[in-house]
Amino acid sequence: MKEILDAILSSDSTSADFANVKLPESYRAVTLHKDEEQMFAGLASRDKDPRRSLHLDDVPLPELGPGEALVAVMASAVNYNTVWSSIFEPVSTFGFLERYGRLSPLTKRHDLPYHVLGSDLAGVVLRTGAGVNAWKPGDEVVAHCLSVELESSDGHNDTMMDPEQRIWGFETNFGGLAQLALVKTNQLMPKPAHLTWEEAASPGLVNSTAYRQLVSRNGAGMKQGDNVLIWGASGGLGSYATQYALAGGATPICVVSSPEKAEVCRAMGAEAIIDRSAEGYRFWKDEQNQDPREWKRFGGRIRELTGGEDVDIVFEHPGRETFGASVYVTRKGGTIVTCASTSGYMHQYDNRYLWMSLKKIVGSHFANYREAWEANRLVAKGRIHPTLSKVYSLEQTGQASLDVHQNRHQGKVGVLCLAPEEGLGVRDAELRAEHLPSINLFRELDERSVQTSRDL
Ligand SMILES: NC(=O)c1ccc[n+]([C@@H]2O[C@H](COP(=O)([O-])OP(=O)(O)OC[C@H]3O[C@@H](n4cnc5c(N)ncnc54)[C@H](OP(=O)(O)O)[C@@H]3O)[C@@H](O)[C@H]2O)c1
Repeated sequence: MKEILDAILSSDSTSADFANVKLPESYRAVTLHKDEEQMFAGLASRDKDPRRSLHLDDVPLPELGPGEALVAVMASAVNYNTVWSSIFEPVSTFGFLERYGRLSPLTKRHDLPYHVLGSDLAGVVLRTGAGVNAWKPGDEVVAHCLSVELESSDGHNDTMMDPEQRIWGFETNFGGLAQLALVKTNQLMPKPAHLTWEEAASPGLVNSTAYRQLVSRNGAGMKQGDNVLIWGASGGLGSYATQYALAGGATPICVVSSPEKAEVCRAMGAEAIIDRSAEGYRFWKDEQNQDPREWKRFGGRIRELTGGEDVDIVFEHPGRETFGASVYVTRKGGTIVTCASTSGYMHQYDNRYLWMSLKKIVGSHFANYREAWEANRLVAKGRIHPTLSKVYSLEQTGQASLDVHQNRHQGKVGVLCLAPEEGLGVRDAELRAEHLPSINLFRELDERSVQTSRDL
């Protein structure tokens, strides 16, 4: 592994150097173990601790297939899917691997008693498989997490519609939380040159998802002047949705749960902010019944912030806890666009507010090849910025996942894989200097809030 790292850190390595670098037989990776699938049985979700289920193991190097690349991973990131995987909810990811393994002899490689997680990476291509022309050893890349086969016509207009669509590092093996990773080369995109490895690795999954969900015509198709209600506006998805709303001439109405998170939204440029904890919204009276008076109070607060207007779009992902309120507060003809159900997937809402007011509920999931590429292009141009707040080592991935599970983070949390330290990998210092305050925003606010809590 040292030879690989030396080649990456040296400024004069050529593609031939990378093509000739000796590959190790095994590499270090964050894994789940199949024989531990039941380890949290009977525990409430909040008591399931990713530090117990995530392991750092030496695993054998997988065989490289046609159309694939082996990438040296400098940095990766924790996504909420790392949390779902690590607590085996809503299902164990080993079921995904078994199903994928039944497709072909090549996909059988993925069905193993361990699962290497991780759906983001920034790194360097080491080898490419047969039939790959667009990428070569030595290319500095990021990878999006859409894995498709495209053998069926269903996915030919929109690659997310492929019947064999999977999320790499969640529904497939050999993910990015490791020193090496295996991807299909159609997942590869150029690494934004002005970012460090850990910054470049952090937007991928959430940035692409927010792009499709909010901006793309496959999602809400946001336009100038729209009012956009964004749940969890300083979180992984929300921190990108807020940037897209601001960059696209819309008005974000940011919902968060603490003054520190409100400060992050303000620093991004949002003005309309609701602290749901301080204002104490209780959309559910008990397990079975919601409280429409609370929906109304919430809608009234939105109108106060918008000068009397309702929202054109709700950017939904908390699910059960908020969905009834989201449907209620959307304006006539507006769109509730949802990509998740963090608080529970059996939603309840009053359908009269949907049909009588001609509202639409749109389901959205990750992003197709083109949308992921567009989202990365905006990062590379310095129009959308990483929202990295903290960086952990590969050994600390369990702790990083626990922090996300307990909602103690802001934006995204990064993980150093092969990178020996933070701050490496910048190739365009000029573009970086132009955007430095925005690139550092989440880290600086996070450090400031840690310092404040120490001082108290
Ligand atoms: N379908 C897809 O392609 C896709 C892609 C990415 C993520 N997801 C899913 O989307 C969800 C969010 O992901 P993320 O990366 O944004 O996670 P995140 O970084 O944890 O941010 C989510 C934010 O939502 C807010 N939130 C959580 N529970 C809530 C509740 N009960 N009511 C209101 N707000 C709540 C929290 O913000 P406050 O506490 O500040 O309000 C939290 O910071 C996860 O379930 C994830 O698996 C799906």
